[in-house]
Amino acid sequence: MVLIISKPKGTADIFGEELKYWYFVESTFRKITKLYNYREIRTPIFEATELFLRGVGEETDVVQKQMYTFEDKAGRSLTLRPEGTAPVMRSYIENSLMKEGLPQKFFYIGPVFRYEKPQAGRMRQFHQFGVELIGSHHPMADFETIILALDVLNELNLHDYVLYIGSIGCKNCRQRYKEALKEYYQPNLENLCHDCQRRFDTNILRLLDCKNEQCKAYQKDAPSTIDYLCDDCKTHFDKLISYLDAMNIEYEIDGHLVRGLDYYTRTVFEIKHKSLGAQDTIIGGGRYDGLVEELGGPSTPSVGFAGGIERIILALKNENVSVPKISVCQVYIAVLNEEARIYSLKLAQSLRSRGLIVEVDLMSRNIRNQMKYANRINAQYVIIIGDDELKRGVFTVRNMETGEQVEVDEKWVENYIVEKLEE
Ligand code: HAM
Repeated sequence: MVLIISKPKGTADIFGEELKYWYFVESTFRKITKLYNYREIRTPIFEATELFLRGVGEETDVVQKQMYTFEDKAGRSLTLRPEGTAPVMRSYIENSLMKEGLPQKFFYIGPVFRYEKPQAGRMRQFHQFGVELIGSHHPMADFETIILALDVLNELNLHDYVLYIGSIGCKNCRQRYKEALKEYYQPNLENLCHDCQRRFDTNILRLLDCKNEQCKAYQKDAPSTIDYLCDDCKTHFDKLISYLDAMNIEYEIDGHLVRGLDYYTRTVFEIKHKSLGAQDTIIGGGRYDGLVEELGGPSTPSVGFAGGIERIILALKNENVSVPKISVCQVYIAVLNEEARIYSLKLAQSLRSRGLIVEVDLMSRNIRNQMKYANRINAQYVIIIGDDELKRGVFTVRNMETGEQVEVDEKWVENYIVEKLEE
């Protein structure tokens, strides 16, 4: 017996009715990014491993535990992209996109890979949509990415979410904050998990997003990043908040929000959906003023976010949002003999050229089974062509919903169907 091969753990096949959610999320995201005049960028699914080591940070969970890294046949180390920001910045530098002037505003949609323990809302291959706004240090840029993210959620008819916003400051104020964190954690160091004990020395901010239950207990009383901002960073943060207030946007300030990737500076934000369990962040983003330089480009302040499409679809289902149906077959042409079949080919092409969704018999079925099939695919109308019909030049048109059947002159059948579908 030949064993059936299953899909890898943490991946999904997406087909059938499920697709309507994907089309809805993706088309809504495209629609909103268009209103803000963002242009699409498509980067490779794999990149040099070095890009993520430098971009995302060696001490992050993503780099330490979650990357799909492999050697190609020439011995190069490559990695399936675990996120989209570093690749977009690599492309920005490599293609000298700064020459076209600033800001540069990009959006992307595509698969992302992280070796994580799969659970509801946590996959090994998942999909992100995201934007990167390159070249502005102004809090207006932070504001634009946040309001764009909210516009996407609102256009999707989602309501049960909360925007959390914080600032982790620049290098200088972060240094002061790290010292305060060290002081806070020092007396309890031995109660933390092994990873956190190591990160205490290598990257102490990571202690704030450790998922270990024991470590979590110490997170809530840790000092707040907001209290350690330098004057410039504080002004930046206050301005951003004033824009959110001016637009009556609801948010919660979170002084423990550090995000899981090392490139962030100043603004960080996350949008969580109340209906989701442990994996409730549907959108995450922030400012990353040092990344382009870190990757060898000129110093370029930037800000962006990414949303997890699978999680957003879970949220849509939990909120019972009604989503546009995938289009159904509008016309099925049933034929009774070979002459009718030839005729059906022309008629089908002609109807399709007018934008109608048309199917013909591909299985050489008898008329009863053709009608059954038309029923199964929810065809709206069936045109029946047989000997008699061809001789007389009139076709039978059946409305599959009402069962009503009329005879229509061959010359008028196309117009008749088009008009009926428009009604
Ligand atoms: P991130 O927070 O790592 O940020 O991921 C963004 C979103 O991807 C998360 O909020 C979540 O919805 C989704 N996500 C993450 N991991 C998984 C998973 N294993 N399964 C399903 N969904 C997941 C970034 O990736 C940054 N590049 C965002 C960014 C863009 N920052 C600035 N620009």
